[in-house]
Amino acid sequence: MPWIVSFHVIFMVTWFAGLFYLPRLFVYHADCKDAPGNERFKVMERKLYVMTNIGFIGTVVFGLILVFAYAWSAYAMTGWFWTKMVMVIILIAFNFYCGKLVKDFREERNIRSHKFYRLVNEIPVLPLVVIIICVVVKPF
Ligand code: HEM
Repeated sequence: MPWIVSFHVIFMVTWFAGLFYLPRLFVYHADCKDAPGNERFKVMERKLYVMTNIGFIGTVVFGLILVFAYAWSAYAMTGWFWTKMVMVIILIAFNFYCGKLVKDFREERNIRSHKFYRLVNEIPVLPLVVIIICVVVKPF
């Protein structure tokens, strides 16, 4: 399974690049006053969201392969596995929330300031830390 774990982690890094950088783009986009800048941010957000979704789907597909191959029988009774799954659900919800924000900016419906998006930017940190500790330390 080392190949599957490798691809799982590669897609996970791709996914997180998007989950961290999309809200950064929203920070600058919310502050942007000129029309060419506004249009450029829309293109950047749309393309980055596509890449983010590729990372998301790849992470889930390779993660599920691991679950079916051995992890369900090995870890279904452990606390860390289910803690990780709760964190994954939070990340998936955050992924779709970012998609909603991309759409809001595209349709000129953003009403939030850059300060709000600075806070949004922090949301994926907690699930990332918890998941890495769960899968590596397997504490409970
Ligand atoms: C539906 C989503 C996911 C599923 C089903 C899943 C499932 C799994 C499974 C079964 C393993 C093997 C665990 C082991 O044998 O030790 C694994 C490894 C791993 N997962 Fe996930 N995972 C998912 C999402 C994620 C996410 C979102 C992250 C990062 C934030 C992540 C990070 C990792 C890492 C770093 C490893 C390698 C651990 C190691 O080999 O030491 N996974 N995943």
